[in-house]
Amino acid sequence: MSSQIDHLLNESRQFPPSPEFVAQTIDDPALYERAAADREGFWGEQARELLHWHKPFTEVLDWTNPPFAKWFGDGELNVAYNCLDRHVEAGIGDRVAIHWEGEPGDSRSITYAELTDEVKRTANVLAGLGVGHGDRVAIYLPMIPEAVISMLAVARLGAIHSVVFGGFSADSLRSRIDDAGAKVVITADGGYRKGKVSALKPAVDQSLADRNGEGEQQTVEHVLVVKRGGNDVDWTEGRDIWWHDVVPAASADHEAQAFPSENPLYILYTSGTTGKPKGILHTSGGYLTQAAYTHKYVFDLHPETDVYWCTADIGWVTGHSYVAYGPLANGATQLMYEGTPETPHPGRWWELIQKYGVTILYTAPTAIRSFMKIGRQVPNEFDLSSLRVLGSVGEPINPEAWMWYREVIGGGKAPIVDTWWQTETGGIMVSPLPGITAAKPGSAQVPLPGISIDVVDEQGKEVESGNGGLLAITKPWPAMLRGVWGDPERFKETYWEKFEEQGFYFAGDGARLDEDGDLWLLGRVDDVMHVSGHRLSTAEIESSLVAHEATAEAAVVGASDETTGQAVVAFVILKESFLAEHTPEGLATQLRGWVGEQIGPIARPRDVYIVGELPKTRSGKIMRRLLRDVAEGREVGDTTTLADTAVMSIISAQVK
Ligand code: PRX
Repeated sequence: MSSQIDHLLNESRQFPPSPEFVAQTIDDPALYERAAADREGFWGEQARELLHWHKPFTEVLDWTNPPFAKWFGDGELNVAYNCLDRHVEAGIGDRVAIHWEGEPGDSRSITYAELTDEVKRTANVLAGLGVGHGDRVAIYLPMIPEAVISMLAVARLGAIHSVVFGGFSADSLRSRIDDAGAKVVITADGGYRKGKVSALKPAVDQSLADRNGEGEQQTVEHVLVVKRGGNDVDWTEGRDIWWHDVVPAASADHEAQAFPSENPLYILYTSGTTGKPKGILHTSGGYLTQAAYTHKYVFDLHPETDVYWCTADIGWVTGHSYVAYGPLANGATQLMYEGTPETPHPGRWWELIQKYGVTILYTAPTAIRSFMKIGRQVPNEFDLSSLRVLGSVGEPINPEAWMWYREVIGGGKAPIVDTWWQTETGGIMVSPLPGITAAKPGSAQVPLPGISIDVVDEQGKEVESGNGGLLAITKPWPAMLRGVWGDPERFKETYWEKFEEQGFYFAGDGARLDEDGDLWLLGRVDDVMHVSGHRLSTAEIESSLVAHEATAEAAVVGASDETTGQAVVAFVILKESFLAEHTPEGLATQLRGWVGEQIGPIARPRDVYIVGELPKTRSGKIMRRLLRDVAEGREVGDTTTLADTAVMSIISAQVK
């Protein structure tokens, strides 16, 4: 079968950066030239410029045993030293590293000097609990500074962290603790979410209980517990330790030891939409180089003046690379927020931007669309004029959501960077540079300097410009995953087998290159629909639906159909202002016609269902597999990875 994906949607708007922005940017077209002239030399330069090496490397890349790469292999560094001590030594210890805001409104500002001390104390405590080089530590915390402190303390010791998102259940936590063989778990009594304390410690207790089954070893020796929620907790003497009993009392003297560049830094499990979670393994020198490099140039970082805010939870890769490692390696000042966007009022994010004078905002399309649904009157009440760069990550951003983001949040002037990457890539791979690129709504645009990407067909051959195909990464990159924890075969099969001959990494995404050479992400290849012999991407039809004034969010799937093979079925969430004045039936008819006119009859949905919610994973991605079940009248499949498992029964009932 052809792997080409038909291209239907045309978008011709372009927004170059303003002259004022260009005048102050650190982005320089020479980056592209240098990287094109000597890719490895370029990465070597970045690694030397952006990081401190205890022992300098002499070799940039060893690719003699693909797909297992070694970057800066004979160099040595300490990741935590790079994020902390060296800034203090350089005299910026009194710069705020983290402005933290709790959901109930309590707050703390922590300088680099204070953060360094806290991490040193915590490293001493962990070392006292027997954590050393190569040991695994599970971190199951809310969005509080101790989450970042714990990650850095583990990294400082040359140990490996596995952060588990606080919204995951005891079962998910258990399988991750067991797979990694964690020695210590760091958690909290609870954290604030939606105005209440949501307990965490009981899930840890449960995940460690009842280990009598075959092969069920108890690797965890200690549980370190931060007091945050103030809720009652059960206590296991000898195992459980309060953070506040040991960390403040520990010594703040701790010398960072150097570890090899390829020393493992963390494991992060991708839940995916099906199957057993994969423990994606990242290592130190290459990862930190790319995290720092991308954070600096993609956001045009001015560390002396910017206040940066990435809204991702520490439990996702975005929280690893763009809350913990990238910003701290660059000595940036950032905001960290514990709670949900709508608590205690729907303008909470905008209030925080106004309060802290946030200049760079990095968030996800799903959040932007949920704000569109409520309406612009909410952000309009706040002063957002400090914002100068806006970022998007996690899903294709529909052109109309992009325009809303630009106009309503960015005041019509802040450049938007749509950043494409994955847990596996470790850092941003495709993105505009805000001071250089003329931005196109909905396009992630170009591989960053130093990154090689192609859109290819099933045989690995480049597709002609204008056509859709498969996104492949054609050369190794510094922050690439080094494997799947404990399963090298799965690593090869999942990512490298498809283009084994060419040695390309297969990302699993569909993409299209336009006439200017800009990339458009088309959604996961598994979600492509086959309609009357055409291969249609989810992203383009969803973008067309979102371009209608009544629509806030849309998901489309292919449902089997006697005449066309598959038919397009759409699930649409309406903006609140449209709900009152229109009937769902009337709007469904309008939307079918709209898509037909906008992108052609082939894409016209057979059915449009107006729904109140869409099924999403805990990181906000739409689970189209479940919608396909509904559209084909099947019993809905496994919903355990959904953020809200009730959503599917509501949608099923609405559709009936
Ligand atoms: O399908 C792509 C989509 O998210 C996938 C990676 O998800 P995850 O590992 O959870 O990492 C999310 C944060 C990096 C990709 O394979 N994706 C991510 N960013 C974009 C995107 N799709 C389109 N445009 C993006 N900017």
